[in-house]
Amino acid sequence: MQYGYFDLKNKEYVITRPDTPAPWANYLGSPEYGAIVSNNGGGYSFVKSGANGRIARYRFNSNIGLPGRYVYIRDNDAKDYWSATWQPVGKSLDEYKTECHHGTAYTTINSEYKGIKSALTYYVPLNKTYEVWRIKITNDSDKARNLSTWGFIEFTNENNYEQDQVNLQYTLFITRTSFEGNKIVQHINENSGKDENGFNHKERFFGLVGADVSAYNGNLDSFIGAYRDYGNPIAVENGKCDNVLNYNSNACGALQSDFTLAAGETKELIYILGQKDPITAENIMAEYKAEGKVDAEVKELVDYWHGQLNNFQVETPSEEFNNMVDVWNAYQCFITFIWSRAASFIYCGLRNGYGYRDTVQDIQGIIHINPELAAEKIRFMLSAQVSNGGGLPLVKFDHRAGHETCPDENDENSVYAKETGHPSYRADDALWLFPTIVKYIGETGNKAFLDEVIVYAEEGGGEATVYDHLKNAIRFSQERLGAHKMPAGLHADWNDCLRMGKKGESTFVAFQLYYAMSVMKGYAEERKDAEYVRYITEAQAELGKALADCWDEDRFIRGIRDNGEVVGAKADPEASMWLNPQSWSVISGFASKEQAEKALESVHEILNTPYGVKIMEPPYVDHYFDGALMHIFNPDTKENGGIFSQTQGWIILAESLMGHGNRAFEYFLESAPASMNDKAEQRVLEPYVHGQFTESTRSPYAGRSHVHWLTGTGSTVMVGCVEGICGMRPNAEGLVISPSIPAEWDGFKIEKNFRGKHLSIDIQNPDHVQSGIKSITVNGEAVEGDFVCECKMTEQTNITVVMG
Ligand code: NOJ
Repeated sequence: MQYGYFDLKNKEYVITRPDTPAPWANYLGSPEYGAIVSNNGGGYSFVKSGANGRIARYRFNSNIGLPGRYVYIRDNDAKDYWSATWQPVGKSLDEYKTECHHGTAYTTINSEYKGIKSALTYYVPLNKTYEVWRIKITNDSDKARNLSTWGFIEFTNENNYEQDQVNLQYTLFITRTSFEGNKIVQHINENSGKDENGFNHKERFFGLVGADVSAYNGNLDSFIGAYRDYGNPIAVENGKCDNVLNYNSNACGALQSDFTLAAGETKELIYILGQKDPITAENIMAEYKAEGKVDAEVKELVDYWHGQLNNFQVETPSEEFNNMVDVWNAYQCFITFIWSRAASFIYCGLRNGYGYRDTVQDIQGIIHINPELAAEKIRFMLSAQVSNGGGLPLVKFDHRAGHETCPDENDENSVYAKETGHPSYRADDALWLFPTIVKYIGETGNKAFLDEVIVYAEEGGGEATVYDHLKNAIRFSQERLGAHKMPAGLHADWNDCLRMGKKGESTFVAFQLYYAMSVMKGYAEERKDAEYVRYITEAQAELGKALADCWDEDRFIRGIRDNGEVVGAKADPEASMWLNPQSWSVISGFASKEQAEKALESVHEILNTPYGVKIMEPPYVDHYFDGALMHIFNPDTKENGGIFSQTQGWIILAESLMGHGNRAFEYFLESAPASMNDKAEQRVLEPYVHGQFTESTRSPYAGRSHVHWLTGTGSTVMVGCVEGICGMRPNAEGLVISPSIPAEWDGFKIEKNFRGKHLSIDIQNPDHVQSGIKSITVNGEAVEGDFVCECKMTEQTNITVVMG
């Protein structure tokens, strides 16, 4: 069933049926001031932290999507009321028409009921720390209408959302609201005064510009009424707020206005919400008296975001591919890049930092669009690398490079562990730096990046060039090899649920290390660091020997536990086939052609499903070991045999690197959210964003996806599509173009900004091959092979690629 469609031109997803299988969300603002809004106006807002700066309530773990940012409308003659979003009043869809436009950092909901039209736009102005809801109400009937409206928000009583939810003997008694100058002001801990950081005493406001407030409520129960809910507030039903403010109870902001609209007339109301003192609030509200302010700000957002996304655009025969690569996958990459795992309808904001591996991978998703923004974060993550070469498993939001504590490998109760809840290093964290830095240098040509000096994370850790940071990342693994000379899994490798034991070994990490060594060999050769070239060549050969022993007929094993038991052997009764070692054997460049072909074939045969590729098979049910933590999940769920979305990007990339365009695209299509647009009730999650995983075929709900928006999937699938299927593989000198596409495509086009120049790339596929280049011309001049040197590029560069 379809609930909406992709509007590629406007870069929007338009929801035409409001009764979506779950609240379908959009992101507004940034973690400085963040707002998550559903297609029915549900969602919450926070300042700096979803967990510690929550200013508006939301009911988690429910598909109702309440409460939210509501505007109620009442026809005072008919004594009938509704909301400008379908929920919470929920009028019959026979009479109530609505359409939600989720765009880039704004959401507009257009509705119509009994001749009254409304257009409600939510956004956070660029670089601002408050939010705006602008509603235009139009009388589309042929007679004058007497209307009342209420803007409504349910405040938290405390910035810490857990305290707000559970410690009521405290939080119910610390707030009061006042009404002043067309706004409700909420005061929290007013009596404890305000220190210079604004600690303790907090003020929020909810104000109205564009009409006088005729009545208000600052007390939630007074607005809603006893034994009622958001769908039938007593104040709206009666057409009158009773001006009751809260004192020792739950706070809200409800602002009533009354007006008559002549036939055809439109009224514009602007609600503003934020955590600001009343004077600042007053000043902000004053700015919105200027005509056109909202339109200008929304345009600014659109220009900014479309400008970003337009740095890389494709036009292929696949609408799913275009919608994902041009807009939604790319936008999701920015959201995960900026928000990390800060807040969603699933994440409450409790993680107080960046996961090392998550963030270093997230960066990859935006490098082809905004490499310099990526570089800032790469520097930051390098400053969270410890001088022993390992990454801090959790990098605090207030990370103090050069002054941090770090894990102690001999003490799981170290200060760092207490501060972060992470007892130890992970084997893979710092190894993610290699593909990320390779992509950054490729996109920009900025080889000097390797010479930048960046401080290490810990107190007394000193500083080093990026090149030496990378050497240290390799040293970290090399100093922690297991009995078979592969990197030890330590606390975990990429798979949070797989503990091989401290000295247990992971083939996935071994492949990562193998890749890292190739990268470093290249850098060392260029820098004429002969000694290191010698070292790394030998080390890689040694690792190669160990990995060669991990081949088991038609697959690579997953690893070797510290008791010597193999995980992922072909003969194992459960978990005998794992996806990541197969895809990474190819990505790392280790697998021979024969191994690669066999391993990828095994993946297709054993792990493929209509919804993507399973992480492993069969799931653990009876034969798990202690460190196989995924057995706590139902079979075919999450890491226990689910279709783990992040891994789809790697298998797409691996197939592409092998030139298997049909397979790469098959995997893209199976796992692309957009492919499920007409089966949206089955997928449940937004058809425009990746989730963390999809339930696989043993589940009674196969095809249902979970954990929306903030997932490493954004970046891996983006890389799989851009570097893999589109074949955009820049290196320091220029651009390798090596697409792997479905043979049936006649070709496709790419518009790409690259190092200050614009490339228009026309890829033609007259022979209907899956990969391979017959010829490339650059501005009409033929070039050799599949490489376009930067030296050939002009401000506007026209490149024609003929596959064959
Ligand atoms: C989610 C975590 O955020 C990510 O770091 C991890 O790699 C995957 N789970 C797989 O376990």
